[in-house]
Amino acid sequence: MASADDGLLLFVYRGALFKIAEGVQVPKAGTLLFCRHLAFQPGERVLELGTGAGLAAILAARAGSKVVATDVVPAAVACARENAVLNGVVDKVEVKLGDCYDPVAGLTFDLICTNPPQMPTPTGRDRDDPVAAADNGGVNGWEILDRAIRGAPRHLAPGGRLIFTIFAFLGQKAAMSKLEAAGLVPRIIGREVQAFPRIGYERLDHIRSLDVEGVLPRTGLPTTVERFVVQGTKPS
Ligand SMILES: C[S@@+](CC[C@H](N)C(=O)[O-])C[C@H]1O[C@@H](n2cnc3c(N)ncnc32)[C@H](O)[C@@H]1O
Repeated sequence: MASADDGLLLFVYRGALFKIAEGVQVPKAGTLLFCRHLAFQPGERVLELGTGAGLAAILAARAGSKVVATDVVPAAVACARENAVLNGVVDKVEVKLGDCYDPVAGLTFDLICTNPPQMPTPTGRDRDDPVAAADNGGVNGWEILDRAIRGAPRHLAPGGRLIFTIFAFLGQKAAMSKLEAAGLVPRIIGREVQAFPRIGYERLDHIRSLDVEGVLPRTGLPTTVERFVVQGTKPS
C-alpha cells in the first residue's frame, strides 16, 4: 500500500487528469505527438494497444468513442482503469491485460492506435521489467509494430485506420511497404523533430547499424530525431 511518503505523479492534459503509477510510462513528447494526430469520432470503436496511463484511450472516450485499451504490464492496466474512473469515462473504456491483439480476439474497430515500444535493443540487452516493456522494440525496433501491422486487417472494419508513431531511423519507406504488404493504404499524417531519446545514446551504434535510410548523422552524437505518425487505411 502506498504511503504518504511515496509521492504521487500527476499529468494534466486537455483538461483531463492522469495519475502516473509506479512502473507506468510517464507521458513524453512521443505521447503528445501521437495524441495530437488522433481524431476521434463519437460512436467509433477504438482500440489502443499499449495504453500505459491511458491518455489516448481516455481522450477517445471523452470524445464519445467506445474504447478498448490493452497493455502487458498489470500496473499500466490498473493505472489506466483508475484514470478512466478519475475522468468519468469508466463506462466507455474497457482496459484489458494482454499481449497485442490477444485480449480482443474476434473484435473489430474503426481505429486502432498505438505509440508502441520501438527502441532497437541489442541482443542480450532486453530486460523483463515495465520500463523495458515501455521502451524496447526488439532487436530492430519493429517487433511490436510488425505484429500490430500484421494483425490490423483482421481487426479493422472496412475503411478503418491503424495509426502509430515511429522514429525516423526505423525507416519511413519500411513503414510504407509494411503497410502495403498488409493491404493497408499508407500515409504519413504527422511529423515532428524531437530531442534524441536518452536511452538511444547507450545503443547508438546498434541504431546506426539499422538506419538504412540514413536519417542519423554518421558521426558525432545526434541531438534530435524526427518522429512520424503513420496511418494505414483498410480499403472499404
Ligand atoms: C511507449 S509506451 C506508450 C504508453 C502510452 N500509450 C503513451 O503513449 O504514453 C508503450 C506501452 O506499450 C506497452 N506494451 C509493451 N509491449 C506490449 C505488448 N506486447 N502488448 C501490449 N502492450 C505492450 C508497455 O507496457 C507501455 O505501456
